[in-house]
Amino acid sequence: MSGWVHRHVIDLSAFSTDDFATVLELAQRFRSLPVVGARRLPALQGRLMTTLFFEASTRTRSSFELAAKRLSADVQSFLPGSSSLAKGESLLDTARTYVAMGANVLVVRHSCAGVPQILAEHLDRGPERVSVLNAGDGLHSHPSQGLLDLFTLARHFQPDAPSPAALRGRRIVIVGDVLHSRVARSNLWALSACGAEVVLCGPPTLLPDCFADFLAAPPPGQVGDPVPDRIPVRLVRRLEEALPGADAVMTLRLQKERMHQHLLTSLESYHRSYGLSHERLALCGRPVPVLHPGPVNRGVELAGALLDDPERSLVEEQVRNGIPVRMALLYLLATESGV
Ligand code: CP
Repeated sequence: MSGWVHRHVIDLSAFSTDDFATVLELAQRFRSLPVVGARRLPALQGRLMTTLFFEASTRTRSSFELAAKRLSADVQSFLPGSSSLAKGESLLDTARTYVAMGANVLVVRHSCAGVPQILAEHLDRGPERVSVLNAGDGLHSHPSQGLLDLFTLARHFQPDAPSPAALRGRRIVIVGDVLHSRVARSNLWALSACGAEVVLCGPPTLLPDCFADFLAAPPPGQVGDPVPDRIPVRLVRRLEEALPGADAVMTLRLQKERMHQHLLTSLESYHRSYGLSHERLALCGRPVPVLHPGPVNRGVELAGALLDDPERSLVEEQVRNGIPVRMALLYLLATESGV
């Protein structure tokens, strides 16, 4: 595992192809452990992971907590509704309070892009060694979801040895509300680092033309791109044009809570143009898997029959894979970056 340099995990734009290989290899090892019986590994004994979720979550928070417990870490959950935020305590002071209680890893979700980065910079100025793990910040980034999607695809193409090479030359189509999707942004960095060709498909209101340049430069504040040869993103407006030749299709949740203008005529018309069904998927020309980060608007992004079809849908597999992938991240932060 040498070569791991990240104390914090904020954005997959900072990951090299070797970093992705390290996470996939470790996740595969954790994935192969029995899930019944003696399943707790002592790796993080005596360490404390605190989840600070300022936005709702089912999968991410629960699977981080399970992952930490399976590595024998102590787990503490912050619940904003019943916290001293209500008395005016700042977010930074809240985080410092948990660090004072001994937190080694803070897993942070917030509706504002940049909050985990600001927290990490603030904590780096203090005496304690603490890792910040971004569990989703606004429209910016959702690195553990990007990693579990990558792991799921790599295992689909190469079940015994999932690695970045399993993605090389594959065409992955991402459909839907790219504009509001931190998952799509994380997947763009992850898939392109592994040599996949990413095709984005959606209407102009949910997929502005500027996404064609998304991978052209690292985000502000990051010095250089650790991956030299990313294949540029391709934008396609119609599913009928995007699907032929695809190796996998990932569809995204319509994030109605982040839409402040009328970006869609109706959910029915969206489903007619961009919803996935068995019939639509047949346009790929071969049997391909479908992914969705969840939660799904059933019958909008995905027809119920396709979502429930274990031959085609990897949605539950994505959820299962979230645990070993998050175990891998926690293990690397605690053992390789010395927190
Ligand atoms: N995919 C995802 O982030 O799900 P939750 O919001 O349930 O954590």
